[in-house]
Amino acid sequence: MKFFLDTANAEKIRAAVELGMCDGVTTNPTIIMKEGKEHKTAIQEIAKIMKGPLSVEGVGQTAEEMVKEGEEFAKWAPNVVVKVPMTAEGLKAVRMLEKKGIRTNVTLVFSASQALLAAKAGASYASPFVGRLDDISEDGMALIRDIVQIYKNYGYKTEIIVASVRHPIHVVEAAKAGAHIATLPADVFEKLFKHPLTDKGIAQFLEDHKKSRK
Ligand code: G3P
Repeated sequence: MKFFLDTANAEKIRAAVELGMCDGVTTNPTIIMKEGKEHKTAIQEIAKIMKGPLSVEGVGQTAEEMVKEGEEFAKWAPNVVVKVPMTAEGLKAVRMLEKKGIRTNVTLVFSASQALLAAKAGASYASPFVGRLDDISEDGMALIRDIVQIYKNYGYKTEIIVASVRHPIHVVEAAKAGAHIATLPADVFEKLFKHPLTDKGIAQFLEDHKKSRK
């Protein structure tokens, strides 16, 4: 399973890269806004640290606008993937960008039918948002299981990026479902390492080592 980081924070990305755990990065306008940096500067800074797929999202609403933005983003760094919204115009842009050799990530996917359309359009990635579905009392992980099955049934090459991840259980459930990728906020990534019994066990061993015969 691949881990992407769902952040534009260069320090957090660098730390995960140094651990060998960062296979890619996803951003969106909210994530970029949080860093307080100009869009291109923020993306190019990340591209220097991390060579995996780097999703960049614009604000275009028509296919033509999205393609224009996507072509510009693709000039920023060689590993850029263009995020497009799950709309008919977005899927038109997917076809056009993929034909030009620019990879796409269909974002804001909330149903299996939308995920099927994204794959049929030839997107490299589709991003179903599990946390936002859970927020409205729908089962986000059930959607992931459905998409995994549908893509397997037809051999679609589109990779599933489980997005809107809120806690470690989302990551474990995504792995159990066989999703290709989970994109993790930095705090969720850090929580994956933690277990109180690990901390307790280390403290105990250190204490007993001090007490043992020298
Ligand atoms: O990858 C999409 C993600 O950034 C959205 O997360 O927590 O705003 O639903 P959230």
